[in-house]
This record gives sequence, structure tokens and C-alpha cells, in this order.
Amino acid sequence: MNTWSHTTVLLNEAVDALVTDPQGQYVDATFGRGGHACLLLQRLAPAGRLLAYDKDPEALAEAARIADARFSIRHQGFAAIGELPPGSVAGVLMDLGISSPQIDNPARGFSFRADGPLDMRMDPTRGQSAAEWLAVADQGQIAEVIREYGEERFAGAIAKAIVSRRQERGPVAGTAELAELVAGAVKTREPGQNPATRTFQAVRIFVNAELEELEQALTASLHVLQPGGRLVVISFHSLEDRIVKQFIARHAKAVVDRRAPFAEPAPALLRALARVRPGAAEVAANPRARSAIMRVAERTDVPVPASLHQRREPPPGRPGGGGARGGGGAGGGAGAGMTRLSIVLLVAVIVSALYLVRVQYDSRRLFTELHRAVAEAHLLDTEHSRLQVEKRAEATSLRVEKLAQGKLAMRTVTPAITEYVNAPAALPAASAASTPGGRP
Ligand SMILES: C[S@@+](CC[C@H](N)C(=O)[O-])C[C@H]1O[C@@H](n2cnc3c(N)ncnc32)[C@H](O)[C@@H]1O
Repeated sequence: MNTWSHTTVLLNEAVDALVTDPQGQYVDATFGRGGHACLLLQRLAPAGRLLAYDKDPEALAEAARIADARFSIRHQGFAAIGELPPGSVAGVLMDLGISSPQIDNPARGFSFRADGPLDMRMDPTRGQSAAEWLAVADQGQIAEVIREYGEERFAGAIAKAIVSRRQERGPVAGTAELAELVAGAVKTREPGQNPATRTFQAVRIFVNAELEELEQALTASLHVLQPGGRLVVISFHSLEDRIVKQFIARHAKAVVDRRAPFAEPAPALLRALARVRPGAAEVAANPRARSAIMRVAERTDVPVPASLHQRREPPPGRPGGGGARGGGGAGGGAGAGMTRLSIVLLVAVIVSALYLVRVQYDSRRLFTELHRAVAEAHLLDTEHSRLQVEKRAEATSLRVEKLAQGKLAMRTVTPAITEYVNAPAALPAASAASTPGGRP
């Protein structure tokens, strides 16, 4: 047991926002030194229950002092709340980050203020310490972590200094050494802030896989909260708060399924209730509260859609044993989201290409048919003209024949006349015998 204490931030505000049913089962996902937990137990009825989580064995030791049958604690990362029965919890509280005893005890390696071993694990019994990671990580990975999780402009120079030092004199082992290296690489200093602040925050977030586990726990809360159950999250830096804010905003609005844009939008899973900052008196009494932001949301009675059913994956290649993403990059579950999006886009491109090929084939076929029909029409037209000419010629010969018969009293040429006309040579002898003067 150590002597460092923790002053709970937004104590009454958080418990007031959380408890709606004193008979319900509640989760304190970050027990710490039990400040919120003890007030919660006071608010619960005899039938109420409080289940706590913490990664830190020292927090578990502190929790062992609570003699209350309604209370229990698990030595697990809080993403494990996803293992609770669906809809069984009346409220989930997360008071993120590290506790004052963790920062203040140099042996835990979280602080640049006093020298200690460069550990930074919330759970020193598992995973890789900060020193172990910095001893093997490549320069690009170190720079990426410091840039993404520390929002540090000089991340490249700091990573270079860490790797050069490693090559010259062996790995960095202590917090003071790391703070000194960073101070040498950071060109400008923010007023009132130690130059190592951002780097220490980044390494700590990475070593404990804090943001990935936060995302997993938030999604898990949708499953385990009962209708009307409350989600209360206190965060201490912008990276955490952005995740919480976007998560609540995303689930507090009706969702249109992009694959079925005309279908009814899926109703919201959460109702955003409040955003609370500590008052001036609290910040004056406890300066560590100054950056705190508490967000409160309430679960609706809409069932969790199948697309949100969680798979708990082991963290590949990751120190700390609690995260979802390997390697050095920040951005958490975004990788899986991008892969899904890429697959959807790829399928859309293939379908569009097939559709285009089909349309092109159809238009070619129609064009050929049109050509054939035009050629046939042309032939029919020619035939029609020929028949017209023939008809006109026939009509003319009939008219001439009629004229000859009527006006000129000509007789139609009969076969007998033809024979008579064609045989004049045979006539003269007979005619001469019968017609004197040789006239017919
Ligand atoms: C700010 S303190 C909580 C203080 C507590 N609310 C109180 O009033 O004493 C955060 C605690 O959460 C624990 N913690 C942080 N991230 C965790 C995680 N992903 N899973 C479990 N415990 C975590 C830390 O070890 C630390 O003890």
C-alpha cells in the first residue's frame, strides 16, 4: 500500500448523472482509488450492485478494503464489460486516464518530474514497458506514436534523438533521461508546460493501448446498458474527448443505411444528455481537474444492430495487452473501418463496370438492328417504284388500244388477221383467178 492519494474529479456530478435506479447493477470501469465507487455504493439500495474494473494491481489492493457484499472488482481492462449479459447494466462510469498515485509514484514511470524506471504500464504484470518498447521500436514508429498520441510538432526530432542515443549508449531506461532527450530536441517551449509533457502522454497512451480500449468499451456499453441506462465518461485530453464526443454524436442520431438509402433510417441508440466541466472552485482545489470534460448519454430502447456486434480480437504485436491495433500508428478501429469501406467501394466499382459493359453491348445490338431495318425499307421502296412504273405502262397501252378501237374504228388484231397479213405471198394466184384486174 502506498501513501499517494487521489482526489476524485466531478464526484457528485458523475454519480448524480449515473444513478437512475438504486436497485440496478452499475459498472465503475475505472476504480482507481474508489472515490466514485464509494459514493455510488452510498446511493444504491440493498438490491443494487456495483461491479468495478481496474488494470492496476494497486487499485485492486485498495478495493479489497471495501467490505460491501454489493461490491466486486475485476482485474481486467474495461473493454471486458462487453462480456456482461446484454441489457443487464443500469449505468457505466469511465473516469479515464491515470490516477494521482500512478503519476506521483516515480516507481511507476509515468512522470517526468521525478526520476524512475521508464515503465508507464497501468498493469505492470503484463505487456511491454515503455523502456522495452523504446529499446526495439524503429524511428518511424516512435515518431508516429509521438506525433499522433502527443500531437507533438517535434515528433521526428524526438524519435531521432531517442534512436541515436540508443545506438550510442544503449536504450533509454529512466524517465529523467527521456525527459532530458526530449527537452534537447524540442525547439520551442509552450509557456508553463514541460517540453516532455506531450511525449510522455503519447508513450503512455500507446503502451496501455488506451484509445483502442476506450473505443471497444464504448461500443460494448451499447450492448450491456439497459434502456434508460446511463453512460458517463470523464476525459482529460482532447484525443479521448474527441472519441467520446464522436461516439455519442454518431449513436445519438438516426442512421441511414447507405446500401438501402430509401429505407427508414435506423433509430438512435443513445440520447446525448450533458457535457459538464468542473467549476472554478473544484479546479482551484484540484488543478488536475482543469482539463476534465464529462459527457453523459442515455441508452434508448432500440436494439443494437447486427453491424455493431463486437468481436474481441487479441491485440497483435502490441505492448500492454489491451489494445486492438498493432504497429505504431494511431487511429485505432479506423483500419478495420477503412478495409470494410474499401471492399464496399470495390464491389460498387465492379458492379458499375459490369453494368456499363452490358449497356454498351445492348446499344451495339440495337444499332445493328436499326441498320438492317433501314436497308430493308430501302429495298421495299425500290420495288414499290418499279411496280408503279409497270402499272403506269400497262395503263397507257390499254388507253391506246381503246383509242384505236373507238376513234379510228380499228379492229383488234386477231390471230386470223395476223395469219392473213403474214401470208400474202400465197394469195396472188388464187386472187388472180377469182379477181380480174388483180385487185382483191
Ligand atoms: C482517473 S483514475 C480513476 C479514479 C477513480 N474514479 C476514483 O475516484 O478514485 C483511472 C483509473 O482507471 C484505470 N484504468 C485506466 N484505463 C483502464 C482500462 N482500459 N481498463 C481498466 N482500468 C483502467 C487506471 O489504472 C486508474 O486506476
